[in-house]
Amino acid sequence: MDSTERRFERRTIIVTGAGSGIGRATVERVASEGGTVVAVDISADRLDAVKAEFGDAVTCVAGDLALSATSDAAIAAAGERVDGLANVAGIMDGFLPTAELTDDVWDRVLAVNLTATMRLTRAVLPGMIARGAGSIVNVSSEAGQRASAAGTAYTTSKHAVNGFTLSTAFFYTPKGVRCNAVSPGPVATNIEAPFRSEWAQQRLGPFLQTNVPAVARPEQVAAAIAWLLSDDASDVSGAILPVDGGWAAV
Ligand SMILES: NC(=O)c1ccc[n+]([C@@H]2O[C@H](COP(=O)([O-])OP(=O)(O)OC[C@H]3O[C@@H](n4cnc5c(N)ncnc54)[C@H](O)[C@@H]3O)[C@@H](O)[C@H]2O)c1
Repeated sequence: MDSTERRFERRTIIVTGAGSGIGRATVERVASEGGTVVAVDISADRLDAVKAEFGDAVTCVAGDLALSATSDAAIAAAGERVDGLANVAGIMDGFLPTAELTDDVWDRVLAVNLTATMRLTRAVLPGMIARGAGSIVNVSSEAGQRASAAGTAYTTSKHAVNGFTLSTAFFYTPKGVRCNAVSPGPVATNIEAPFRSEWAQQRLGPFLQTNVPAVARPEQVAAAIAWLLSDDASDVSGAILPVDGGWAAV
């Protein structure tokens, strides 16, 4: 994208889920505005493509964010100073309702969507607090505000991401660290979202067919993430920002 702004000059931003969709669009936005990005993703192939496109602006860390070793590697790659963190990586849950949940789906969805977000946030906070500045942006979902957008594990994880965002903002805004979330509606990405429950399809189908707005482009969500990461949002903390074509208003 063309940008005349240079909001991330001399800034280092960690972006998870950087290989695809909203994360990749966030990398593009930050790099195009002069920032240095630590790009984290489970897919080494996708990261290779990101590196090929953005070159020196990007340092890649390939690994599964369900493992603490991946968060540790991202922090090590960033070096002394992390100015911003975008927790974008996330996975769906096959729209499984509670009675059909397996421990594996529950554990995996919470590990990737919630626990990895907590670990990286916890790790960047001491440096941000010491400098009195920093911005953390979590990617939630409309499923963080309602029950009719996903399965139980995903819905739970995104409601928890919202609570985590608010709690972090409450404790650390007075120390100069802002924490916000964006709450997208449907976005055209590579996220896998097959229905794996007949009952969920029956129950959710009518809501998803009637209330959901047009599918957004990842760049539209990345623009909101970049705004929250930047000093343009210097007085914004504890916001759960719908980026959903008006779905939250329905
Ligand atoms: N696409 C949508 O409709 C939509 C709507 C609301 C919220 N979201 C949220 O947006 C975020 C980004 O999703 P997207 O739609 O861009 O999907 P995507 O699948 O296109 O991109 C997600 C990236 O995260 C990576 N990833 C997945 N699991 C990982 C793990 N364990 N460790 C490291 N990397 C991992 C994937 O390899 C992928 O490159 C997610 O948190 C998702 O819940 C998406």
